[in-house]
Amino acid sequence: MATASTVILGTGSYAPERILTNTDLATMVDTSDEWIFSRSGIRERHIAAPGEATSDMAVAAAKAALADAKFTAADIDLLIVATVTPDQTVPAVSCTIQHKLGVPTNAACFDLNAACSGFVYALDTACAMLSCGRYRRALVIGVEKLSSIVDWKDRTTCVLFGDGAGAAVVGLSDQPGIGLLGTRLGAYGDSADLLCIPRGGSSSPATLESIAAGDHFLKMKGKEVFKIAVRAMEEAARDILEQHHLRADQIGLVIPHQANLRIIEAISQYLELPMERFYVNVGRYGNTSSASIPIALDEARRAGRIKSGDITLLVAFGAGLTYGSALIRW
Ligand code: COA
Repeated sequence: MATASTVILGTGSYAPERILTNTDLATMVDTSDEWIFSRSGIRERHIAAPGEATSDMAVAAAKAALADAKFTAADIDLLIVATVTPDQTVPAVSCTIQHKLGVPTNAACFDLNAACSGFVYALDTACAMLSCGRYRRALVIGVEKLSSIVDWKDRTTCVLFGDGAGAAVVGLSDQPGIGLLGTRLGAYGDSADLLCIPRGGSSSPATLESIAAGDHFLKMKGKEVFKIAVRAMEEAARDILEQHHLRADQIGLVIPHQANLRIIEAISQYLELPMERFYVNVGRYGNTSSASIPIALDEARRAGRIKSGDITLLVAFGAGLTYGSALIRW
């Protein structure tokens, strides 16, 4: 019996209305548009409104993805939300999203934390769960309200991140050779402290002192992260191409995690694939972690950058440190 293919049936994305430019940031911390743009390629990022929750952004992106796929929330029996910024630590934000969206109560709903690689991990999870035959249609969401965990007094991190959401409806198709061809996931847990929130978790619950010290905010050793990011993303891309006997020039479009334009340029150089084959929107969003790839994927599809028969490579890297790549034939 032929195995069914796991396919993306529709995509959607959402970004909060408020835009924070580099010039705005220069009034908040000691920085400049020139410094931020030359180091990262970022010009501006979207910031959630007061009271706008991670779940609200996710619902907006999910509605757009469902409309694109021509399905409704009632058609979903699996909801996976990749995020590091759920509305609350408990319960899973996927359950809040289920309720707000009207996904049936017999749908499986859970969160997944693989930071900026979260969407690729979630796509692979959805693929495995659909392929086993127990689920029919998944909604996979990558969403972040990073503005809630960024230290707005720390110029080394606050200039890099933004808020937003992206979503994909994933289902099964009898057509062979299309959809998610494969994934390559991994992690370097030994480097976890390079990008983390030091306190506020179960190993070190928040105290008045830890909050006063800002240890409940995101901390990053940027230079070290940069080096590992380039190496891990290049390897993840090379490995999956090799596994599928593909050359880099057979990839129609690469959708990399949008953390830093220089990281993307380095990968373009190492893979010997011109920048025109990379979808880049980091300048307008900054790093939106789990949301970055699904937002870029949705924009690329809507801009006509992906045609039927094309192969797209997703490649990601994030806190953990996690990495992942995925190949999709449309
Ligand atoms: N504005 C002005 N100066 C800043 C600054 C800012 N926003 N942030 C840091 N600096 C200063 C530092 O204090 C340091 O000064 P010092 O040399 O006097 O100590 C200097 O700039 C560091 O500059 P540089 O070495 O040129 O930085 P960089 O080229 O390593 O770029 C990052 C910094 C963070 C942009 C870069 O390391 C990076 O992008 N890393 C990866 C981050 C990432 O993608 N993380 C997410 C992964 S999912």
